[in-house]
Amino acid sequence: MNILMASSECLPFSKTGGLADVAYSLSKEYARKKHNVSVITPFYSSIDISKFPNITKYQELEVKMNWRHIRFTIYHTEIDGISYFLVDNKYYFYRDSLYGFYDDGERFAFFSNAIIEFLKNSSNNFDILHVHDWQVGMLPCLLKVRYFNDEKLNKIKTVLTIHNPLFKGYFSPSSLYDLYELNQNLYNDGSVRLDDQVSTLKAGIKFADKITTVSPTHAYELTTREGSFGLWYDLTLRQNDFVGILNGMDYDEFSPRSDKLIYKTFNLRNYKTGKNENKVEFCKEHNLDPDLPLFAVVSRLTDQKGLDLIFSMSDFITHAGGNFAVLGSGETHAENFFNDLYMKNQNHTFVYIGYNNNLAHKLYAASDFFIMPSKFEPCGLGQMIAHRYGSLPIVRATGGLKDSVIGYYSDDNGDNSDLANGFVFNDYNVCEAIKTVGEALNLYNTRKKLITKLSRNALKTDHTWSASADKYLELYNEIVK
Ligand code: GLC
Repeated sequence: MNILMASSECLPFSKTGGLADVAYSLSKEYARKKHNVSVITPFYSSIDISKFPNITKYQELEVKMNWRHIRFTIYHTEIDGISYFLVDNKYYFYRDSLYGFYDDGERFAFFSNAIIEFLKNSSNNFDILHVHDWQVGMLPCLLKVRYFNDEKLNKIKTVLTIHNPLFKGYFSPSSLYDLYELNQNLYNDGSVRLDDQVSTLKAGIKFADKITTVSPTHAYELTTREGSFGLWYDLTLRQNDFVGILNGMDYDEFSPRSDKLIYKTFNLRNYKTGKNENKVEFCKEHNLDPDLPLFAVVSRLTDQKGLDLIFSMSDFITHAGGNFAVLGSGETHAENFFNDLYMKNQNHTFVYIGYNNNLAHKLYAASDFFIMPSKFEPCGLGQMIAHRYGSLPIVRATGGLKDSVIGYYSDDNGDNSDLANGFVFNDYNVCEAIKTVGEALNLYNTRKKLITKLSRNALKTDHTWSASADKYLELYNEIVK
């Protein structure tokens, strides 16, 4: 299979969220399975070119976007068996950050049109164009509508993956021709219209050959009124072509047995002492008592991640005899909350506002519990990394959290300690959240052996990409004749 991934961010070049991890680690798995895989992604000014000495100039092309004639260069390199094509245009991509500009619609319209130009001029015959999120959502529509009689382009099948349904790629109806040279009828007949605007995500849902999201539970949620952020109607219309495939994670980057960033490497055999050493060192370094359970949060501090629940949980933990550690950045009120928490409970808290990969690894390896009570979570990566380092996720049953964490329970007939690898609660409310943290804390204090057993289950949980990559490949095979 010859696959082209189109993504507005991709490791090792750029990252603001899980999309970058997925575009990279799924592609790496394809390469491992001996498929031809390429990624096309913008050349942002934040990319440190000195780290990639093998990048070469590949092609100079021009895109026509209505009255605009835009020249751009494609750079090429190969990493981990993946062929990377980087679209370089200083005007659109040399900015302070990846997103958040008044002209994002135009920037990613340029990117999408540049991908079409690349496809036209490429000697690769791609079977599949796999597009991710709203930034490249218009590509399936361009291929099906604008280039339907282009012999080369009309053979390419498309898959859209929705990583975050919050972002729809809205822009004004008049831009449809201006940015994509598409006929206004597509708006008038509803094909690309959502909430009386053009939505590139909706266009992808309408025109892609297959649509996926990043967990089975989230796929279900996206067909409900309550859980779909307005997409349920369009996704229900396409339900025969819509599936949820659970993300995997990058086992090379997150590997307790070889991780150079943690204090002490460990594996399934020696993890009890190995993990404990990580905890003791971390606590020593940050003035915490290593005998107390350590609860960690590593996250963007945004509403989606369940901030109000995290606030209550952290308050509770520091009062009930636990240690609470948080690493992340985001909304100012959250950053302030955690700084205050630290001022009030210096002996029970660790607070790092910002992003720090080194510290994140250490915290995963040192913590006993990993808190992730998201409001919604299409898949989530933190809970999987936590498993990998034997830290028990405490999550809310939503999206991929529900699909990847087995919550511990016990009743008169026994418990599920042979399987459980974390703690799960259902409803988004403070009572449930605190009750669950309380249970974890209590078990830590009274049933240490049980916690060790669950932690062992966590370490054994399989979050490799292999099975999920096969599911994507099956899907590709259904549409490539
Ligand atoms: C988005 C989602 C997250 C998911 C990631 C990768 O960031 O919010 O849940 O894990 O995409 O698919």
